[in-house]
Amino acid sequence: MPLLAIETTCDETAAAVIDRSRRVLSSVVASQDELHAQWRGVVPEVASRAHVERIVPVIDEAVARSGVGRAGLEAVAVAVTPGLVGSLLVGLSAAKGIAAVLGCPLIGYDHIAAHLYACRLAHGERMTYPCVGLVASGGHTSLFHVHSPLELERLGGTIDDAAGEAFDKAAALLGLGYPGGPWMERAAIGGNPTAHRFPRPLANDRDRLDVSFSGLKTALRYRIRPPGAPADTPPPTGGEMADLAASFQQAVVETIIAKVELALARTRCRVLAVGGGVAANSALREALERLGRKRRVDVLVPPRELCTDNAAMGGIAWERLERGEDDGLELDVLPGTDRSAARRAS
Ligand code: KG4
Ligand code: ZN
Repeated sequence: MPLLAIETTCDETAAAVIDRSRRVLSSVVASQDELHAQWRGVVPEVASRAHVERIVPVIDEAVARSGVGRAGLEAVAVAVTPGLVGSLLVGLSAAKGIAAVLGCPLIGYDHIAAHLYACRLAHGERMTYPCVGLVASGGHTSLFHVHSPLELERLGGTIDDAAGEAFDKAAALLGLGYPGGPWMERAAIGGNPTAHRFPRPLANDRDRLDVSFSGLKTALRYRIRPPGAPADTPPPTGGEMADLAASFQQAVVETIIAKVELALARTRCRVLAVGGGVAANSALREALERLGRKRRVDVLVPPRELCTDNAAMGGIAWERLERGEDDGLELDVLPGTDRSAARRAS
């Protein structure tokens, strides 16, 4: 019998049904982008209230689409860390309610480990361990030595903005929409990625697996509006916009690739698993593929809908269920990194 997974860590309300062979029977995601667009970042209180309104219909739809009745569920899984505390609690409450009614196991899982587990769902047995894991999202940009689905050893990551956050802030500076990643990707089409030389901080520091994106954002700001230029200087348009977007995207991609290459060299892993919303970016996907060919590493990137937040990746809970584990109704959330702060628009 399959399990029901629930995801409400940030601003997506999601539910999915995954069977024991890791087949995704249904996956439903209700995005809140339109609610947060005017603030260009996630407003925690707005997010929790939207989760409350959407969680039951989203779960109902996931169960209905799976073709398995509620009574046919073997367990309930829910992302309990990291995330916004108010958002996490909505998912946890729903999960507890269903687990209590069904009298079935309840498993809490880690959203970041789940992003990497999307590779296991998409690529099956090609996902072997140990491997290097890259999670690049709106709240996190981290590299891991992944010893097993549940054991992630952090090797490094951003010391300031996450990669997705950098895209979101850059899009805001360029007068584009939210979330910024897809807008930046579209704006970059036809642009010259070498038109502007943006900084790649720490990229050449071979002792560190950390990255930094805040200087890149500042460089873009000054390129758009040089010091002394009037405050109402409009963002560029046309070819200049495309060149700026393409050059910015290139800087983010090269910064990430440099550290991924270093992590692969250090760990000598032959498999690279990638996850998180930024992994939906075509320029990054292509650069990762090139890196894989160059280093003879099997690069696993899930399809786009499994990169951005979803509940199908909650299939990771099978790894604990199969060991007979059950967190029970005592399960609690562990907000950890506050992604509202991490994603604050500046
Ligand atoms: O994994 P995700 O859906 O949520 C978090 O866990 O944060 O990632 C969302 C982030 C946003 O910052 C968004 O701008 C970025 O992923 N993103 C992209 C693309 N699609 C989403 N960044 C670059 N290119 C894209 N195509
Ligand atoms: Zn995420």
